[in-house]
Amino acid sequence: MESRPVAAPIGIFDSGIGGLTVAHQVQRALPQESLLYFGDTAHMPYGDKSQVTIQSYSIKIAHALLEKGCKAILIACNSASAAAYELVREYVGSRARVYNVIDPVVQYTAQHHAGQQVGLIGTKQTISSGLFSAKFAATAPSVNLKPLATPLLAHMIEQGFYNNSVSQHIIHSYLQDETLRGIDSLILGCTHYPLIKEEVSTFFEEKVTMLDTSKIVAEFLRKELEKEGLLNDGVPEPPQFLVSDFTASFEASARHFFGEPVHLEKYPLWD
Ligand code: DGL
Repeated sequence: MESRPVAAPIGIFDSGIGGLTVAHQVQRALPQESLLYFGDTAHMPYGDKSQVTIQSYSIKIAHALLEKGCKAILIACNSASAAAYELVREYVGSRARVYNVIDPVVQYTAQHHAGQQVGLIGTKQTISSGLFSAKFAATAPSVNLKPLATPLLAHMIEQGFYNNSVSQHIIHSYLQDETLRGIDSLILGCTHYPLIKEEVSTFFEEKVTMLDTSKIVAEFLRKELEKEGLLNDGVPEPPQFLVSDFTASFEASARHFFGEPVHLEKYPLWD
């Protein structure tokens, strides 16, 4: 595989602010890496869209990240990982490494939660793709997966509704679903959900283990880049942020996770 310089950035993308939870953990796990984040805010939410539509956005973003010289692309969105990972990998070919957020979580859960009842919450796209179920069936059949689509949550979070009475109400009405009765642990299968982790955990009276994609994925990425000899050994550039549309919530979240100053560059995706 052709290798880009180790100092090249890691490209990370999501429909909006969700992937910032992953980017933040990547920065903690890999402080010497330069990060280039793409938030497709013009097309958020992905979770309600068709597979073909998500694939077309994902390819365009991968193209943009390659143009910017990224050595690796992390699809920091479960919906896009489910709908478009294989296609993005094919499109990128030998130009950069491509990673998704589903495989590391399946691997982690298989290692640490075998034989358990494991809940999964995510967007309509992620749940209806059946990808988590198929991967567990193939690699860790003792995991008893209980998947539940929670379509409003990502949109609610993107609009800034978390840790308040609105989010509490919506979270409760989803989580009291029969499907999640008796679970031991819960996969937060959408990269927006770390922002409501405490609220979800409180609903289960702190008795259910929260599997937080962002931390698991960041650790996975660190090991992969190390294995590939792709770790940067120099000084990183400050994180860069591209958005397909300016939104106040994106700017506020980027500032929240990465501190000041946050410069957003508008990068419209072509139709
Ligand atoms: N954060 C995304 C995910 O992990 C997508 C949310 C959305 O755009 O619907 O699925």
